Amino acid sequence: MPFTAADCERCRRDFPSLARTLDGVPLAFLDGPAGTQVPNAVIEAIAGYYRTSNANTHGHFPTTRETDRLLQETRETAAAFLGAADWRSVSFGQNMTTLTYALSYALAREMKSGDEIVITQLEHEANRGPWLNLEERGIVVREAAIGPDGRLDAGDLARQISGRTRLVAFNMASNSLGTVSDAALARLLSREAGARLLLDAVHYAAHFPLDVAALDTDFLLCSAYKFYGPHVGILYSRPGLLETLQPDRLRTQDQEAPYRIETGTLNHAALAGVKAAVEYIASWGTGSSLRERIVSAMREISTYEHDLGSFYFENVQSIPGVAAHGPDFSGPRAPTVSITVDGVPPDEVAKALSDKVLQVWSGHFYGLRPLEALGLMERGGVVRAGIVMYNTRGEVERLLEGVAEVARR
Ligand SMILES: Cc1ncc(COP(=O)(O)O)c(C=O)c1O
Repeated sequence: MPFTAADCERCRRDFPSLARTLDGVPLAFLDGPAGTQVPNAVIEAIAGYYRTSNANTHGHFPTTRETDRLLQETRETAAAFLGAADWRSVSFGQNMTTLTYALSYALAREMKSGDEIVITQLEHEANRGPWLNLEERGIVVREAAIGPDGRLDAGDLARQISGRTRLVAFNMASNSLGTVSDAALARLLSREAGARLLLDAVHYAAHFPLDVAALDTDFLLCSAYKFYGPHVGILYSRPGLLETLQPDRLRTQDQEAPYRIETGTLNHAALAGVKAAVEYIASWGTGSSLRERIVSAMREISTYEHDLGSFYFENVQSIPGVAAHGPDFSGPRAPTVSITVDGVPPDEVAKALSDKVLQVWSGHFYGLRPLEALGLMERGGVVRAGIVMYNTRGEVERLLEGVAEVARR
């Protein structure tokens, strides 16, 4: 069943912050790519944990046992979200960046000087910094180029990957341009080279169903705060792989996967929220299993978001002086649209839109590299609007009017 405008209106009632107004005007939350709003079910799950069960793990009394059970259920729920058959593949951390650093130290222990890591020009800094850090150990980081439309140059990706490549760390969807890249190609090329594949699915996971089994990836990372949950990072590792690595860890912690890379105490209350966020998404789907409901919901919401994103992309470009960047909406694309307005710096555009109670981001949002590659940083970056399940056509029309007004100045 399609996710319709009426469903969107219905879902908005689940998100208390969407009721906020400023001087009588509803706040338009078009800042989803930097983190979405959260529904009541997530807020209640977090508060409920603090109300009843706040404890540490692996003890011998009721609240610690409840916490163990909660973490286990959250892993199973996250595994369903990822398409992972085994909950032991799912590790949690503070955010994607922190987990990627931890993983990079572990992977570096198996690499030697001259080994190569291939990334792309679409990477968020979180999928660059941890790998570039390893250059001080003699590891070479290569970068596949993008074209002027913000699409990855597949030929260049193939050229960068060689027998020296040990890891391909690959962005599935760009948080600054909305580009969706071909993870199957990255898998094919990395496999041919005998290299591991790590997928940055932080932006992708907010808009498309994930299927780690079909992607056949070694690692995948995403962050629950991009899909209606709290600030928790999620790492998928291929079954059996984490045990072969030596992540930094304490001798007192669980040594097996998925705990092996989880240092210190996790944010248990937030993990209650992660479970609730995935269940919330699933509540919009159909099917007999949680996985089926997640996938069907994500597919339908994705179509809704794509249509609205496409409507904005097409119309904003017809405003004189406005350019929209990144690929068009003829194929798979995240509903995240970045624009520039001739003669008006992005921060000024965002401030003017904020005066109209339209919340959008300006600058580079750590998705700096693609904007550098397209020469957009020389003008201060871009103005980014992101569509998620609770955004309406009315909000996008307000945004178009706001942008037109700024462009007329
Ligand atoms: C594509 C992409 N990768 C990585 C990250 C970093 O995620 P986190 O904030 O969980 O470290 C972000 C955050 O915006 C992102 O959009």
